[in-house]
Amino acid sequence: MSVLIVYASYYGTTEKAAYRIKENLEIDSVIMNAEFNAVDDWKYYDKVVVCTPVHAGKPHKAIKKFIEKNLTNLADRQIYLVACNLDENWITQCDDEFPKEFICAVVARKYIGGILNKSVLSGSERKSIETMEKKLNMSLENVNTVSTDEIISFAKSVTA
Ligand SMILES: Cc1cc2nc3c(=O)[nH]c(=O)nc-3n(C[C@H](O)[C@H](O)[C@H](O)COP(=O)(O)O)c2cc1C
Repeated sequence: MSVLIVYASYYGTTEKAAYRIKENLEIDSVIMNAEFNAVDDWKYYDKVVVCTPVHAGKPHKAIKKFIEKNLTNLADRQIYLVACNLDENWITQCDDEFPKEFICAVVARKYIGGILNKSVLSGSERKSIETMEKKLNMSLENVNTVSTDEIISFAKSVTA
């Protein structure tokens, strides 16, 4: 059996993290961008690592669509939910963002941190960041909280 890693990414951080998870899995795996690809045959996979960034409290749209479209298959497998974002509480508070059947299949959740470079953002994105700065009570000018060690130890736990 193989592990399927599904990700989507706005600015590339989740994509890099998903590839790092793949590099550190000690079993066969297939990686897929949910925005552009579909699963050919579910029978090869017993575990699915779902990696999403978070914007304005929401998972990536392509991840939401992927889950809705593949709900029956996902509900039958072991799901590892990975959030690439800045608010480390989101991962434990995000159940309402996903279908109940999906959440029931989640066996582990992992917050891996995120990267934010305010200078590349559009006006509306900056507004969204200002809201988050208020919520977290901190400045998010240039932030990198991604932990490679955490990503590697997470990958090992999927293999175990
Ligand atoms: C417009 C915007 C909104 C964001 N909103 C949130 C948020 O609501 N909660 C959070 O924890 N992180 C939020 N973030 C931080 C992202 O989740 C973080 O930058 C992540 O690394 C993005 O991954 P990506 O490069 O794969 O898109 C936001 C980032 C941007 C640019």
